Amino acid sequence: MSRFRRRIMGLLCLALSILCGCSVRQTSVEYVIGVSLANLQEQWRLVLKDELEAEAEKYDGVRLVITDAAGDSEKQESDVERLMSYGIDLLIISPSDVEALTPVISRTYEKIPVIVLDRAMEGYDYSLFIGPDNDLIGRQAGKTVLELLAEDGISGASVLEMKNNSFASESRSAEFVKTVSESGIATRSIDLPEATRDCAEDTLLASPELLEGIDVIFAHNDYMAYGARLALDKLGISGIRIVGLDGFSGENGGLQLVEQGAIDATVTCPTGGTEAIRYAVDIMNQVSGIPKQIILRSHRIRPDNVTDYQKESRITGKPSVIRVGYAQIDEESHWRAACTDSIRQAAKDFDIDLTMEFTQPLVEEQTRLVQKFIDQDMDVIVVSPVVAEGWRPVLEEARKAGIPVLLVDRMVDEEEEMYTSFIGADFEEEGRRCARWLLHELPGQPIRVLELTGTEGSSPAQSRKIGFEEVIDGEPECEIAYSACGDFSREEGGRVMQEYLEEHNWDIDAIFAHNDDMALGTLEIMAEQGIRPGMDVKIMSVDGTSDALVALQAGKVNCVVECNPLLGPQLMKAITDLMQGKELPLRIITDESVFTKDTPRSQFQNRKY
Ligand code: AHR
Repeated sequence: MSRFRRRIMGLLCLALSILCGCSVRQTSVEYVIGVSLANLQEQWRLVLKDELEAEAEKYDGVRLVITDAAGDSEKQESDVERLMSYGIDLLIISPSDVEALTPVISRTYEKIPVIVLDRAMEGYDYSLFIGPDNDLIGRQAGKTVLELLAEDGISGASVLEMKNNSFASESRSAEFVKTVSESGIATRSIDLPEATRDCAEDTLLASPELLEGIDVIFAHNDYMAYGARLALDKLGISGIRIVGLDGFSGENGGLQLVEQGAIDATVTCPTGGTEAIRYAVDIMNQVSGIPKQIILRSHRIRPDNVTDYQKESRITGKPSVIRVGYAQIDEESHWRAACTDSIRQAAKDFDIDLTMEFTQPLVEEQTRLVQKFIDQDMDVIVVSPVVAEGWRPVLEEARKAGIPVLLVDRMVDEEEEMYTSFIGADFEEEGRRCARWLLHELPGQPIRVLELTGTEGSSPAQSRKIGFEEVIDGEPECEIAYSACGDFSREEGGRVMQEYLEEHNWDIDAIFAHNDDMALGTLEIMAEQGIRPGMDVKIMSVDGTSDALVALQAGKVNCVVECNPLLGPQLMKAITDLMQGKELPLRIITDESVFTKDTPRSQFQNRKY
């Protein structure tokens, strides 16, 4: 936006501030952020608005222009268009119906950065998504209910679930019901017309039969939980446990209700308002390394942890120099080398004392190294787990020692409480992107795929396979005809191809390699047999390393899905934030591209790996 328009904007905001009687700060307007909210009826949205405004206050020169769609998608679409007509620099949107609003979000993203809150839209036409993991929240609520029932010695119990028919509510409910039904708990679900205290109270007072045989009430926000409490008190019913969601502070917020014993537990559902403003300012200041998704952590709150949860800083006594122990996998690919270099450089840039040690790709060796870092009393421990299994004992040891553990690049198959944060890619989406490209490239024909899988038991190998199969499952003509492990290495990729050719007549239409190195290891082997890679057989791989992009531009590889190894800056920023007492997101998901023959040449230039 031009400076002239910015000044006009500043005057407009000034006028709006005076008309609304808001405090007026005499500063020039650097950035105007448009905020489109789904509604301002739900408490969650009111808290979101407060967080956005409170954080924006910390930045001179940032102005917010906030609109309220009152739950109407058509109005929200016109709100966004009106904000654009004001010449805003960035849009933050909490959509009322993300499908309905995807077109206007995509159109807006063509012109200015867009941060989507609360629910990620299909596709990736936005700058950054910030929201909770609704499936996890459902599981956490289910686990809390099971804990309460175990405390009461109740088996075969029944739960009354009070929902509001929102997208978040549906995904939370599905995971909740799945979690409790595995323990034989029956759930009776009702959808309330309004997610409010009064509606919940009135519903139960009008239909007390809903409570017959019920041992626990699970309400999809703390206000409905409070309404349930008021109804039980008026009906003179005791002995029914109540679990809510949101966990906000303040009058009748979930934290206060748990402290007072009005409800038995809640699960926090952070709004992301504070993070949205911080990242908005970084985006407008063109800070590099902005992630694609920030998945916020949710906590299970009971009377025994509600006080600790509200303590400001989770880390006390920031050390003058932060000591970090990093358990890295030994160099098995070009990707790994680029990742290691990025981590090392970022540690220097952030003045962090990094001890990075390498182990053979064995979980026993890696966990031994982590135990050594615990014994050395590191401030933070970072791991790139070679495989997903086998981590609980050493993560328990780190937790006992009070040392936060961050996962970088790969995930572990443990509960989210066992680690502080994950920074890396959405491996399933990488697999989906390969499959979507293949089906687009070879539409409506039989496709026999040879799959080169990565290290057995590693999260990238597991998840890329899941994502790829999820997309081709709907295509009966496309099948994985042969799958073998190439262990993410060029040599092993070549060996798999050699063996296939020795044992089969060539009958493969496409190769799906879980990484570039394995794909590149097959090219010469095929060429020696007269098979033209990229022509006689379509080749897809993941990483985006320079050798693969050279092969793609030569037509020998057809689709390279990026898996960004340059995780150093995000890791060191997260560690710095952590040591300043900030809570880290549960997952920080990197922004990644897809390269094909149609990718503009400019995107191949100035790459760092
Ligand atoms: O964990 C990421 C994977 O590990 C990369 O795709 C692969 O090249 C590396 O070995």
